[in-house]
Amino acid sequence: MSPSNSHPSDDPWSIVFEGYDPEKEGRREALCALGNGYFVTRAAAPEATADEVHYPGTYRAGLYNRLVSQVNGEEVDDESIVNLPNWLSLTFRIDGGEWFSLDAVEILAYRQILQLRQGLLRREVQFRDRQGRETTLQEQRFVSMDRPHLAGLHIELTPENWSGNLEIRSAIDGRVTNNNVDRYAPFNKQHLEPVATGALPEGIWLTMRTCQSHIDIAMAARTRVAANGHEVNAAQIRDCDEAQVAERIQVQVERGATVAIEKIAALYTSRDPAIAQSTEAAQLAIQQAPNFAELLKAHQRAWERLWLRCDFDLDPVKYLEAARMHIFHVLQTVSPHTVDLDVGIPARGWHGEDYRGHIFWDETFVLAFLSCRFPAIVRSILLYRYRRLNEARQLARQHGYRGAMFPWRSASTGREETPRFQFNLLSGQWMPDNTFLQRHIGAIVAYTVWQYYITTNDQVFLSDWGAELLIEIARFFSSIATYNPKRDRYEILGVVGSDEYHTTYPEAETPGINNNTYTNLMAVWTLCRAREALGRLSPSRRAELCHVLELHQDEIDQWDVVSRKMYVSFHDDGILSQYEGFERLQAFDVEQFHEQHGKQRIEWVLKAEGDDINRYQIAKQADVAVLFFLLSEMELTALLKRLGYAFDQEQMQRTIAYHLQRTTHESSLSRLIYAGATATLDCDTSWQLFTQALFTDCSHRDGSGTETGIHLGAMAGTLHMLHHCYLGLCARDAILYLQPSFPAHLNRLRVNLNHQGNDLQIEITAKHLGITAAPDNRESVKIICQGQVANVQPGTSIGIHLD
Ligand code: BGC
Repeated sequence: MSPSNSHPSDDPWSIVFEGYDPEKEGRREALCALGNGYFVTRAAAPEATADEVHYPGTYRAGLYNRLVSQVNGEEVDDESIVNLPNWLSLTFRIDGGEWFSLDAVEILAYRQILQLRQGLLRREVQFRDRQGRETTLQEQRFVSMDRPHLAGLHIELTPENWSGNLEIRSAIDGRVTNNNVDRYAPFNKQHLEPVATGALPEGIWLTMRTCQSHIDIAMAARTRVAANGHEVNAAQIRDCDEAQVAERIQVQVERGATVAIEKIAALYTSRDPAIAQSTEAAQLAIQQAPNFAELLKAHQRAWERLWLRCDFDLDPVKYLEAARMHIFHVLQTVSPHTVDLDVGIPARGWHGEDYRGHIFWDETFVLAFLSCRFPAIVRSILLYRYRRLNEARQLARQHGYRGAMFPWRSASTGREETPRFQFNLLSGQWMPDNTFLQRHIGAIVAYTVWQYYITTNDQVFLSDWGAELLIEIARFFSSIATYNPKRDRYEILGVVGSDEYHTTYPEAETPGINNNTYTNLMAVWTLCRAREALGRLSPSRRAELCHVLELHQDEIDQWDVVSRKMYVSFHDDGILSQYEGFERLQAFDVEQFHEQHGKQRIEWVLKAEGDDINRYQIAKQADVAVLFFLLSEMELTALLKRLGYAFDQEQMQRTIAYHLQRTTHESSLSRLIYAGATATLDCDTSWQLFTQALFTDCSHRDGSGTETGIHLGAMAGTLHMLHHCYLGLCARDAILYLQPSFPAHLNRLRVNLNHQGNDLQIEITAKHLGITAAPDNRESVKIICQGQVANVQPGTSIGIHLD
């Protein structure tokens, strides 16, 4: 990995972070966060409370709460992922002195080691306090992948040059707020209300409740201390008030003799399945929990199982480490433990509070990697959308459309969560936020449904849920498209593309731009897929669904008409425009801007200067290029042909180059999308963008924002790139297609995956592709690689020479 203060160890599964830098602590807390798909805990130091440097955060997947705030003279309400009580809280003092804090001692040595294979975070600290006492601290922690409600912390303290009384304070601290993101400073932050605290025969517990969603959060913890190999039995409950509970343990320690402390914590909420009552469940879990070592063993076995499914090798190894780190964070955010939770994929993981834990379109990049490894997880994430179909129908109706209009940002109910204003930190002013007009989100829901279906051939899913989603989204696109007789074309007006810099025409009174190419073409794609999905249902299910949804042949015929007559905006020289009129905007000199303003956000600077980014040809992120990422060259050309537009490879190249030159990549998804879009057209550009995307979070780039959450879409997207662009892997019904564009910068890539119930290992080098089928596969797998057809029988391998 390339971070300046982290480096690979001799073990290719470990990432070592050297030193303690208060400035970078937030970023490390997010990068080393541990989770299991049910909850995630940031890697904050156990002795720390939230301050300028540290931010302890624990988030249960999809646990939101809504707060009302007064901003910009108005009452607004925002739903946020909730920072839960801090179960890690553990500190100590010597002879009744100051409680230990990293910031109050001289640090002699400091390193953290993230062990990806074991899902374990280690910390090694040597410090000298103000009295000259030197101590070594060795810490390990995990969030159990085996028992999703449990987590463990283990600390060993060795007095190097002193003997004395050591007092340990272990707490569950509910005095937490949501205070991770500077931009949200003007909003209310207090989501939790105390319910009760108490002591167990061994341990402590605390229950709190979210103030609007009324979800109970129950935590219990048990702390054991051993000195000289003997357990110390002198815990006293102290500092107990309505929002925190702590126990203190005193022990006499001798110079050179290590004291071991282990803390096991349990988290349950009143939304969890298979429990009667959350406080009772947390208490019971702690009373029954085995010790740290046993729990850790089972946790490691659970990770082993996950890594087996995701086994992956990449040469050179520096890319492998980054890719493994990405797999690690994907699985910490969504895992088999997520399946029963009714949650979507959060843009920033459950690793921080940026974007309030909302669900955007980033799932596209995540689900692709999971579909051929954990189809049950993907199905559950798609059901998050299905369960919010009625809300999306309601939203469509409110705006005068038919079908289902999914919101740009969603959380618990599926209502639109995009805030009405954004706070411009540079000017201190509020700016209207019109990004909610990204109606293209529906196409992504349709796209993920379809990709899952053709990858897994899950007919039950299509029949029971998928087809209905596709139909309702197609309905929406057909109804938002208006007929323009002058052009004899359908148009989609007043929307926003994925480039959020352009939300309106300069001087226009109402927000929205017209005929965003990405939106229009994905609308056409959706209309086609909805028709195809209907054709794939059994006649009886098709009839039943059409009856229930009151879908008649004339409406299906109308989809066909719209899908052949959608307007697409081209520049005079044949380049696909971002939207109608983009080419008439003024040129913008990005380099000059950066010289003057460094890495400041362009739209904020311009607004603060009384200007408006909508006037310029400059994009925040890939927009037209998303089409080239999602669709193959053949699919895209066929779509345009269907609409009567000729489009060749040379136009495609010029289109990408034109837009790439005008893109700032302020969104972490942008480089990734361009890397995919250029994979077959311009290998060098693609590779350069890919490696930049690969190190979005792992590199030390300032302003990446990792401290408030990892960039899950970019992380998973790089994995998707390796599979779908460089390996050229695409499952379509029963056939696995491979069309590699393998970069010269890679020596080898090997992946394990499951194709419709059959395990395969695929290995590629510059000249050779090998596929091995597991001996216990049910059937042979049909492969088409660069036009060559092969059947891989169970227990056999094939090799293909690459052109
Ligand atoms: C991007 C969106 C993205 C969101 C969450 C925004 O900055 O513009 O495309 O979905 O971040 O990652």
